[in-house]
Amino acid sequence: MAHLEVLIPRERIAQRVAELGAEISRDFAGHAVLLVGVLKGAAIFLCDLARTIDPALDVRMDFIGVSSYGTAKTSSGEVQLTKDLSEPLAGVHVILVEDILDTGVTLHFLKQLLLARQPASLKLAALLQKPDRRKVAIQADYVGFTFPDEFAVGYGLDHAERYRNLPDICIVRE
Ligand code: IMP
Ligand code: MG
Repeated sequence: MAHLEVLIPRERIAQRVAELGAEISRDFAGHAVLLVGVLKGAAIFLCDLARTIDPALDVRMDFIGVSSYGTAKTSSGEVQLTKDLSEPLAGVHVILVEDILDTGVTLHFLKQLLLARQPASLKLAALLQKPDRRKVAIQADYVGFTFPDEFAVGYGLDHAERYRNLPDICIVRE
């Protein structure tokens, strides 16, 4: 039987997300900002983050879908767009919101794709990052937590589509 070990409890997630929201509120004061969530893993993070940003800011939300992992724990190295944005990006301040920065392949692919649409600016936010696994040189502007080289589930992150609904970030012990 698989057993779940809590690595980052919900209270710490909420506190860190609020800090990121405050940082974004300062950085984008007086501007409109579009949060672009990467489906499906970043959906929960994006919704919580959006609600910690100063309500005086004009905050919009959109989602983009990619697939790269299938049901395995290691990246196929190939990223496919499965769902595009619903609005154009030209002249818009965009924050691309991802669940986890691992090899960097997914964020690198999305960054190039979105930059080609000529946003006013593009920042990257990742709830988690695994520092030692990068295959592509890429850094996030807003990072929640640095995570050990273990497979994370919960708070949006899945293993074979399971565990996204867990309120804490956990690792699966077999
Ligand atoms: P990258 O392209 O290797 O940076 O991987 C990014 C994507 O891989 C994320 O959007 C996740 O969907 C998935 N991923 C990487 N590590 C984990 C993990 O520990 N738990 C769940 N998903 C992960
Ligand atoms: Mg993902």
